[in-house]
Amino acid sequence: AFAAIALPAAAAFPERPITLIVPFAAGGPGDTVVRLVGGHMARTLGQPIVVENAAGAGGTSAINRAAQASADGYTIVLGNMGTHGAAPAQYPDLQYDPAKDFAPIGLMVNTPIVIVARANFPANNLREFVDHVRKNQDKIVEAHAGVGSVSHTTCTLLQSIIGTKTARVAYRGTGPSMNDLIAGHVDFGCDQIVNVAPHIQAGTLKAFGVATAERSAVIKDVPTTSESGLPEFEVSAWIALFAPKSTPKHVVGKLNDALVKALDDEGIRARLLNLGSEIPDRAARTPDALQALVVREVARWTPVLKSAAQ
Ligand code: MLT
Repeated sequence: AFAAIALPAAAAFPERPITLIVPFAAGGPGDTVVRLVGGHMARTLGQPIVVENAAGAGGTSAINRAAQASADGYTIVLGNMGTHGAAPAQYPDLQYDPAKDFAPIGLMVNTPIVIVARANFPANNLREFVDHVRKNQDKIVEAHAGVGSVSHTTCTLLQSIIGTKTARVAYRGTGPSMNDLIAGHVDFGCDQIVNVAPHIQAGTLKAFGVATAERSAVIKDVPTTSESGLPEFEVSAWIALFAPKSTPKHVVGKLNDALVKALDDEGIRARLLNLGSEIPDRAARTPDALQALVVREVARWTPVLKSAAQ
């Protein structure tokens, strides 16, 4: 007879639902991508993935909480170019180190940045927009998702390039800030394409430039920033998944495997591409590739944000 051999409990991961913290309000780019990709991951893993939106301080409060959660794979978190790239330069007292306090799971998408404004903003192209903002700085209001977020970071760069300092209002994510922009309560913002493409297509937002080398197929009437005379403003963001550091390797491996499968699924791919996001190839989806990306991004944004602050 065979003796029963007890497998280590963790080998059965996951045995219960996984909490995925989104550090921004529902309805924004991070939330949208996570619900699409996470839904597929849950089917692969055989357990629900429960999304918890926990906004505040540009996402950094929730990221900090996630860094301190049990390292068992049952609490994971969405991080982006803001929380895991720009935040250290913006918060001298940041409680977490993006490169040291996490076990990276994998990159989900790259998201080009678009300069958008309320539909009745009095400009019809990027030059007119820049002109109008320069001349009306005291009246213009930019909306973003909190200091250190992607929207805040990229518009910090934009305002530094065009030499403006408008009022800037922090929201709990670009889901709510876009609602206010569509309603005309604020004037402009810099946001990830996945959040704005449908509104640009519908004409409820004006877009003045996509900050990439090539135009995006989903908003192909929107010129690139370099076509419009602002080549210095070329910037793309990204959205990824992280677990607390010391999460066991095989647990991270299972989560990464589920992520990779979701990004290979034709239906998920079609929906992500339809929103204008770019799907990383397989080599860019590994935990090691994400770790290297975080290190590069912190190094890239620190000097940019320091000089923009001057
Ligand atoms: C969001 O998901 O609301 C955005 O990614 C926030 C941001 O601009 O980083």
